[in-house]
Amino acid sequence: MSVDKSKDYKQQLKDEIIQLKKEKDAVILAHYYQQGEIQDVADFIGDSLALAQIARKLKEKTIVLCGVHFMGETAKILCPDKTVLIPDINAGCSLADSCDPVEFKKFIEDNPGHTVISYVNTSADIKAMTDVVVTSSNAKNIVDQFPEDEKIIFGPDKNLGNYINSITGRKMLLWNGACHVHEQFSVDKLIELKKQYPDAEVLAHPECKKPLLLLADVVGSTAALLKHSIESDCKQFIVATESGILHEMKKSSPEKEFIPLPGEDSTCGCNDCNFMKLNTLEKLRDCLKNGYPEIEVDVDIALKAVKPIERMLEMSK
Ligand code: 13P
Ligand code: SF4
Repeated sequence: MSVDKSKDYKQQLKDEIIQLKKEKDAVILAHYYQQGEIQDVADFIGDSLALAQIARKLKEKTIVLCGVHFMGETAKILCPDKTVLIPDINAGCSLADSCDPVEFKKFIEDNPGHTVISYVNTSADIKAMTDVVVTSSNAKNIVDQFPEDEKIIFGPDKNLGNYINSITGRKMLLWNGACHVHEQFSVDKLIELKKQYPDAEVLAHPECKKPLLLLADVVGSTAALLKHSIESDCKQFIVATESGILHEMKKSSPEKEFIPLPGEDSTCGCNDCNFMKLNTLEKLRDCLKNGYPEIEVDVDIALKAVKPIERMLEMSK
């Protein structure tokens, strides 16, 4: 009988991770875009809002954030006394990188009298000059809580900003940033897939461009799309967000079919975030073992950045 060595190896890694977690008093949080095997070994999985909400309530002294850097920073800012580890310190975010703190500060100074709302996909420096942080889960709800005539700067995602403007009737001033994964979803390929699967519902993340969102049946955060896929009577879904979410969608509804929408120049038929996928089981094991790489945030910046994050959590209740 042939032995599946790779399966044995993966199981061995998972066993080591579970053992190390106990030894180090650590807890693993994973975003829905992580590799399935990381999601399977995590204590909690969620979208960026859920991960921030969970981080604040944990008792363990170490948090391993399997996601990208800004998610680790958010956890560290909310839990400054804890050690926050990330399996790969290079797991960045093109959207967060599209907002340079010096230029964003100038944008704010050039437009005085505006409330600054920033998407959570930003560096701690940007959060420190923000009035309230939002995620794709709560952006509409939080924007709706401001008076209709409130002048608002929204950054850095122009697609999410445009979408919120369109559903709220606001005219928020938008920073010109975007996510390289969601921007490259192809409308042509979506039209082809809609012909192939005429009964399928189209689920899209609001970081996608407007022409694509106009073709979607449901627009929402990863958690909202997952929830819809579970609750809907529909049996097929075309999914326009990072393909990691399909793991939990398939697990939650094994009888349903999930079709990842390919990007414009995607050859794999899916849409991976190269940053999210830098984290691996091996790196997760190593970071638990070594206590490194660790997320560090400048104390003065963290003291400023915590206010708009706490305000978000308060306004999301
Ligand atoms: P969520 O807020 O849906 O978790 O999305 C985070 C993200 O990075 C989207 O690309
Ligand atoms: Fe950033 Fe886009 Fe990756 Fe999300 S999918 S982490 S927004 S680069």
